[in-house]
Amino acid sequence: MNLEQLKKFRIRDHRELPEQVYERMTRTNPYLKQVHDYPDLLLPHPTLDQIQQHWEPLRERAERVHVEIGCGSGGYLQAWASQHPQDAFLGFELRFKRLTLAARKLAQAQLINALLVKDRGELLGEYLTEKSLDILHVNFPDPWPKKAHRKHRLFSSEFLDRLLIFFREGGEIRFKTDHQEYFQMVLELLQNHPNYKIGTLTEDLWNSPLNEENIPTEFERLFKSKGNFQVGFLTAHC
Ligand SMILES: C[S@@+](CC[C@H](N)C(=O)[O-])C[C@H]1O[C@@H](n2cnc3c(N)ncnc32)[C@H](O)[C@@H]1O
Repeated sequence: MNLEQLKKFRIRDHRELPEQVYERMTRTNPYLKQVHDYPDLLLPHPTLDQIQQHWEPLRERAERVHVEIGCGSGGYLQAWASQHPQDAFLGFELRFKRLTLAARKLAQAQLINALLVKDRGELLGEYLTEKSLDILHVNFPDPWPKKAHRKHRLFSSEFLDRLLIFFREGGEIRFKTDHQEYFQMVLELLQNHPNYKIGTLTEDLWNSPLNEENIPTEFERLFKSKGNFQVGFLTAHC
């Protein structure tokens, strides 16, 4: 799907539905309602006005700008944003429950340097100007393991090309996954790309010295509790 098609798939605001329909839906999924409880921390249906009002002031006063695509329930974003109060953080996520849980964490930590959006990470260009991004974090993205579905993966050479407009010089990608084939694919894409250089690399993060500084995500904790997983981690710079 190209970017224009992705924009068309943005879902409408459920509150615009007839009241009875909305109430019925929220009984099935209470997070459809709760996602609206954090208007300063979470934009469930981001509009240009809201992006200008909520994200741009954060971005403009920040020392560095971070984006996390697929931030899930937000533990990783919250930890980074707490450790780097001078930086601004934008988290993309699609699921209502995970967004609500993430917003709750940001609120509990009283963070004022992070914003969550219910939007596809591929549309990050709507939130950034040229040369404004310092670090892109992608942790355990959906691996789409079947061959026929690989086209849905976030990482592709086109995606890496598109990012270059937004990265400041020295911009960084930080990527982890337990899916070994996806890890190798991203590694090869980066190694073969003329504008990126691999920085850090381990195919077994948990048994590497890099694990000391690792901030685990919710999925990562879950994998760890089940044992028998190997996590690859890399950084790349442009
Ligand atoms: C396997 S989960 C990992 C979540 C989190 N990073 C973690 O490690 O706990 C992948 C997440 O990416 C989200 N996601 C998938 N495609 C996305 C996209 N195009 N843009 C933003 N989020 C996406 C999913 O909703 C899901 O929560």
